[in-house]
Amino acid sequence: MNFFTELQDHSEVKLSILEKYTIPWMRKIILNKYGSKKCLLVDGFAGQGIYDNDKKGSPIIMIEAAMDFYGQAVEYEWGEPQILIYLNELDTDNHKHLISNIERLGFESMDNKWFTSEDFNSITIMVENKTFEDFFDEILNIGEGNTLIPSFCFVDPFGFSQTPFRLFKKYLKNENSELLINFIYEHTNRFITHPNEKVRNHISTHMGLVGLNDLSDKVAGLEADERKKIIIETYTNNILDETDAVHVKHFDIKKNSKTKMILFYATKNINGLKLMKETMWKHDETGLFTYDDKQQMVQLDFETILSTDKKMHITLLSESIYDNFSTRKNIACEDIEAFTLIETIYPLANFVKPALKILEEQGKIGNFRGRKKIKTYPAKTLMDFN
Ligand SMILES: C[S@@+](CC[C@H](N)C(=O)[O-])C[C@H]1O[C@@H](n2cnc3c(N)ncnc32)[C@H](O)[C@@H]1O
Repeated sequence: MNFFTELQDHSEVKLSILEKYTIPWMRKIILNKYGSKKCLLVDGFAGQGIYDNDKKGSPIIMIEAAMDFYGQAVEYEWGEPQILIYLNELDTDNHKHLISNIERLGFESMDNKWFTSEDFNSITIMVENKTFEDFFDEILNIGEGNTLIPSFCFVDPFGFSQTPFRLFKKYLKNENSELLINFIYEHTNRFITHPNEKVRNHISTHMGLVGLNDLSDKVAGLEADERKKIIIETYTNNILDETDAVHVKHFDIKKNSKTKMILFYATKNINGLKLMKETMWKHDETGLFTYDDKQQMVQLDFETILSTDKKMHITLLSESIYDNFSTRKNIACEDIEAFTLIETIYPLANFVKPALKILEEQGKIGNFRGRKKIKTYPAKTLMDFN
């Protein structure tokens, strides 16, 4: 079956994360008082735009998010948001489909590359028909000392051979750059111990490893879950060690209970991390950041999961906070928020404050300074841990 005949459930969750993240991200960037008021969305493997069963693909999701945000900005008189959307698709037929799907949204072009619309004055779309490597290299060639405008890049290949790690290294040097990459776990995992040097080289360039020997030695003979843990750890550490990103989160996507792909998100920005964690939680409120299409019905019943398990999660969070800060003095609520975001699986909204309330009721925190009401936790409030 052609990939674009039908959007499969497990791919739908990937696109839903993209969709739920894009508008709030644009809002944060563009409405930031000190920010550049401009942003760039990049889709390196854009596909056709619309699936044969009418579901929207990543480029159309991005463009519609930009259009919606433009509408909001005009309605609330925030000024027209300057949004650039750079799309790329290598396959000639897919590229043609993509262009007609963009035109269907009312965007026009003189050269089949730059698209604009009178109704959405400040949105500009560029569409390329190149390899991702050439496309991204061109975007990244902005000259020494220059930086891209704040950007969010989605990378959604079929395999592991078209996404050299060096590109992400270069990209993440830019000031406000974020990456969401669909790591094709199934193939990578299968070929990691492949005898063919060329295949192993591809994986190595993809993961940014000089040689694969260490990794293949480490995973040899391990059970599937252990093996996955090590591959995830290796890729995460590579991003943290080799690029300028300081936060990495991943989201496991399974089909028939087997991991097909893993979304990796990388950023330097703690607000980006906060938003992405909240987005991932919306897709898996068990906190495991896993989606399994087999258990879809269970997964969709988040309300029930959350109503029974949320208390347990909050208690677990309160215990982690206490383990980390016990006996320390002069801790601000914002320190605890940063710890929660970076070191735990929990998002901030609806978790940190109830966890602090538990600790206050248990007498594990006290001597509050800088708050007006008891059992409230403004960011600058200071407290001591017993
Ligand atoms: C997984 S699909 C993308 C799906 C798309 N993101 C969506 O949401 O519908 C991968 C796409 O990458 C294209 N492609 C394959 N190799 C490529 C390369 N080296 N550079 C750019 N695009 C490539 C394929 O033709 C295919 O359309």
